[in-house]
Amino acid sequence: MDNIMWTAEDEAIIATNTDATECKRCAVELGYWKDDYIGFFAKRAERKAPEINRGYYARVKGMEMFIHQFLERCGTKCQIINLGCGFDTLYWRLEDATRAGINFIELDFPTVTAKKCHIIKRNKQLLEKITREDGEVALGAGGGELHADGYHLVGCDLRSLGDVRRALAAARAAPDAPTLALAECVLVYLRPEPARALLAHLAAAFPRLALLVYEQCSLDDTFGEVMARNLAARGCALAGDWQRAAPAEQAARLRALGFDAARAWDMGAVWRALPDDDRARVERLEMLDERELLQQLHAHYALTVATRGDLFADMDLNA
Ligand SMILES: C[S@@+](CC[C@H](N)C(=O)[O-])C[C@H]1O[C@@H](n2cnc3c(N)ncnc32)[C@H](O)[C@@H]1O
Repeated sequence: MDNIMWTAEDEAIIATNTDATECKRCAVELGYWKDDYIGFFAKRAERKAPEINRGYYARVKGMEMFIHQFLERCGTKCQIINLGCGFDTLYWRLEDATRAGINFIELDFPTVTAKKCHIIKRNKQLLEKITREDGEVALGAGGGELHADGYHLVGCDLRSLGDVRRALAAARAAPDAPTLALAECVLVYLRPEPARALLAHLAAAFPRLALLVYEQCSLDDTFGEVMARNLAARGCALAGDWQRAAPAEQAARLRALGFDAARAWDMGAVWRALPDDDRARVERLEMLDERELLQQLHAHYALTVATRGDLFADMDLNA
C-alpha cells in the first residue's frame, strides 16, 4: 500500500464491520428479511432496538431495490464492485436469486478480507457457491485474497488509488462492462480528498456505471453531534465531509466528480417507496415506542444513485 499510515483508528473502522454484521444478523433472526448466509459471519446477535432493526431493513431493501434495477437494465453480463464490503452477503444472496454472469468484486482492508476468506473456506455452503470452471478457487498470498470465476475478494486501502487500481486489475475488472459500484457506510470513513479521488476515478474508469451510495447525511445538527460523539467514544471519527451534506448536495457533489446524473433521497423517502405489503409486514414484527427516533434516523441516512452513460440514467426510487 502506498503512502498510507496504518492507525489505531483504522482498527476502530474495521470494527464497524462487526457492528453492521451483528445488526443485520439480529434483524434477520427477527424476520425482517431473509439471509441464509449472515449467520456464518456473525455468530451472535444481541437484540437491537426496533428502530435500529427497521433502519437496517430500509438500508438492505433500499440497496436491493436499486441492485435489481441495475440487473434489469444490463442483464447478467456485468460486474459489481463492493467497496468496503465488510462481511456483506450480497454475493451469495444474488447467487441464489439470479445465477448470473456477474463478476463480483469485493474490496476491504486486508485484515477484513483475510477474515472473510477464512470464514468462506471453513463453510461449505459459502465455498460451494464460489466455483471456477475447473472447480478450483485460488487463494492469494497470505490467505487474504480469494479469486474464482465470478468472485474476487481483494484486500486494499480505498484511500490509495494505486491500491484500488491494483485490486481491480487483480479482480479482472473490465472498463467497458456495465458496472455497479456499491458504497454502503464506507465513504464517511475516508477523508474528503481520498473519497473524492476514489469516486472521480470510478466515474472516469467505467463509462457504463451506476454507483449506489448509502451513507449518513445532514449531520450538521444536534443529532449529528451526538452520533459523532458516540463514534468518537469508540475511537472512530467520521473522517469525511460527506455526511454533513444534505442528500441533494451529496448528489450534486457526484455530478461535479464526473457522473452524468445523480439523485439522492433520505431514508424516510426510501422507506415509503418500499412495497406496501412488506412494509406492513415489517411494522407488525415489533412494537415501536420511539417513532420520533426512527424518523430522526431516516432523516440522517441517504441513498444516492449516480450514473454514467445512458443505460442506467432512468434508475429512480419509483422506477
Ligand atoms: C460499517 S462497515 C460496512 C460494511 C458493509 N459495506 C456493510 O454495509 O455491511 C465499513 C467497512 O468499510 C471498510 N473500510 C473503511 N475504510 C476503508 C478503507 N480505507 N479501505 C478499505 N476498506 C475500508 C471497513 O473495514 C468496514 O469493513
